[in-house]
Amino acid sequence: MNHVDAMEAPAVRDGQIKLHGREGFEGMRKAGRLAAECLDMLFERVRPGATTQELDKAAFEFITDHGALPATLGYRGYRHSLCTSINHVVCHGIPGPKPLRDGDIVNIDVTAIVDGWHGDTSRMYAVGTINRRAERLINVTYEALMRGIAAVRPGNTVGDIGHAIQTHAEGERCSVVRDFCGHGLGRLFHDAPNILHFGRPGDGEGLCPGMFFTIEPMINLGKPGVKVLSDGWTAVTRDRMLTAQFEHSIGVTETGHEIFTTSPQGLHRPPCS
Ligand code: MF3
Ligand code: CO
Ligand code: CO
Repeated sequence: MNHVDAMEAPAVRDGQIKLHGREGFEGMRKAGRLAAECLDMLFERVRPGATTQELDKAAFEFITDHGALPATLGYRGYRHSLCTSINHVVCHGIPGPKPLRDGDIVNIDVTAIVDGWHGDTSRMYAVGTINRRAERLINVTYEALMRGIAAVRPGNTVGDIGHAIQTHAEGERCSVVRDFCGHGLGRLFHDAPNILHFGRPGDGEGLCPGMFFTIEPMINLGKPGVKVLSDGWTAVTRDRMLTAQFEHSIGVTETGHEIFTTSPQGLHRPPCS
């Protein structure tokens, strides 16, 4: 197939899927861990009255204090260390001065570059007390991610991942956003393959040991449609209903997978507050 040994391949996006060895796994463990620790650090800061620009500043300081860099800073003109996506914002919400309010749900997405490796992860946070619909959506989305991850093993395909996510989300009367997908990563932030969060069993690229990619389903309570606001970044649900997302960076191993972005403090999974 269209695979290449990552050690031989230039770090450019040419459509080929890079297969990494021990050095790559070690690099991704460090990068993934720092990104997860950053999200852990933010946990107690997410509360009513906090602003997302304060959180962004705390993340920048945390990452740079650890000798790393936020991958989004300067990425395609983006000027922040985090994406902070509140309520009906699907992804790429821009940190700003507006205070978080009791009952908001917010996805915080961070990517740390450590020794050239990218650790990309996001999770949902509850601001104060959230309602049952919001809590249910968060639970469905987390479970969808984990079912997608459970399908990651050699011999399966990217379609098996998407199918597992879609089946769970739609079985819970939620919908899967189709306009954004997971992605290969490693020494690049966004690389082949695309990881769609819907699909049919056996479709698409086969999974092989040494592949690195994210899985990052965006799941809506209403319809799947999204639009991007005039700032060029903020993606929102067209029907303005709630949406949620979780993201892990994953490596395919000989026997299954390794999650690089596990929370050291066990804070990734719901209840998130
Ligand atoms: N971290 C996002 C992802 O999961 C990408 C954000 S790019 C930005 O792929 F420029 F919007 F920050
Ligand atoms: Co990502
Ligand atoms: Co991300």
